[in-house]
Amino acid sequence: MNILAISGSTRQGSLNTRLALLVAELRPADVVTVVSDLDRLPFYDADQEAAGTPQALAELRATVTAADVVVVVTPEYNGTVPGLLGNAVDWLSRPPRQSVLRGKPVLVLSASPTPYGGTWAAEHLRSVLTRVGATVLPAGLSVADAHRRLGSAEPDRQVVADLADLLVETLDSAPQAISA
Ligand SMILES: Cc1cc2nc3c(=O)[nH]c(=O)nc-3n(C[C@H](O)[C@H](O)[C@H](O)COP(=O)(O)O)c2cc1C
Repeated sequence: MNILAISGSTRQGSLNTRLALLVAELRPADVVTVVSDLDRLPFYDADQEAAGTPQALAELRATVTAADVVVVVTPEYNGTVPGLLGNAVDWLSRPPRQSVLRGKPVLVLSASPTPYGGTWAAEHLRSVLTRVGATVLPAGLSVADAHRRLGSAEPDRQVVADLADLLVETLDSAPQAISA
């Protein structure tokens, strides 16, 4: 299976990128690409879009197209999805009705140091992705207290177990959702 894991943070030491990397660690038999440099994309602007496809967008589109499933790991900023990730979804939603996200199975994860784990951001992201036409998988994972559980070299064993179960449940046990 070809899995693309996108982190909505570019921060050194990002908890969300750590979670995206954990997906790769848990799927050694799959091809997993982790993207944590969404800042390569310019801010969406219709004039810029009309002027041509930015190289970073062309690369991201190709990676999404090649993926059997996309895992998006979102931080939470002010109760919602960070602008960095919203910008990437805006670019990927274009052109309308031909978005590479249309029909693409997407699994949404989030991580935050709070007791809520970024659940608002995850919920909002699921809503936006559904609107764009992605096939948002019903399950997900929001990691609370992520600074403790993902902040050191050894991730919390329960998080690892929960993520492993989720990946089996969603990627291996739902062939009708994902045709690899
Ligand atoms: C501008 C800003 C707003 C934030 N708002 C929230 C929030 O609403 N909910 C939350 O759980 N964490 C919030 N945080 C804390 C982030 O969850 C925390 O910085 C997290 O580590 C960011 O993800 P990262 O580690 O992947 O970069 C906010 C952080 C920033 C910088």
